[in-house]
Amino acid sequence: MTVQRGPQGPRGGGVGREPRDRVRPLDATIRPARLDDEEFLVALSARVFRLYSRDAGSAMRRMMRSRTSEIAVAEHGETRMGFVVVDIKALGRPFGPLKRPSVAHLDAIAVRPNMSSQGIGHRLLAHAEKVARARGAVSLSLLTAETNTEAQRLFRSAGFQVLAPFDNVYADGQRALSMFKSL
Ligand SMILES: CC(C)(COP(=O)(O)OP(=O)(O)OC[C@H]1O[C@@H](n2cnc3c(N)ncnc32)[C@H](O)[C@@H]1OP(=O)(O)O)[C@@H](O)C(=O)NCCC(=O)NCCS
Repeated sequence: MTVQRGPQGPRGGGVGREPRDRVRPLDATIRPARLDDEEFLVALSARVFRLYSRDAGSAMRRMMRSRTSEIAVAEHGETRMGFVVVDIKALGRPFGPLKRPSVAHLDAIAVRPNMSSQGIGHRLLAHAEKVARARGAVSLSLLTAETNTEAQRLFRSAGFQVLAPFDNVYADGQRALSMFKSL
């Protein structure tokens, strides 16, 4: 991941139980993640992915170190609201008429629970698609828990189609749906 040095002291890092916060999604800025976002990224991952992963915080730290991952943060003023992680790789072989296309995989997307259902997820997803397209990706895939209907609604409304279910993918053996969109 390309990281930038940010201002001193992580702000908007804590993501414990918070009162509902109304935001105007169009006021949100979406920018590349910086080193000083780590506390926020790890804390929000650990909170929202705890049903699916025993150690989502460590998984986020690994994604922050991955050279193929692009991470973006949505923020308003000094408040971080959510993030998206997209992994982009060259396929390394021809695919149909395409000589050496890249493919993208959405590794994670999350919005602070007290700021959900206000359009931030849609904006983060659109940003991930834009970044993937700009890096030459021809498709965007993802896995989501079969029970995660909220996430599926977001992905379906953005044009993703379900490819197939997979058994025993998450921490408690939950099934996943694989979803796909051409870019
Ligand atoms: C899934 C998740 C990222 C969605 O984020 P979100 O910010 O709540 O998503 P959005 O607000 O953009 O969209 C959800 C709904 O909010 C409403 N909404 C969208 N834009 C809105 C706006 N401008 N104003 C008010 N409501 C809006 C819509 O009802 C939308 O549903 P739709 O898709 O039918 O249009 C979020 O619920 C989350 O972090 N979940 C936990 C982590 C997770 O499960 N991630 C996915 C793993 S694969």
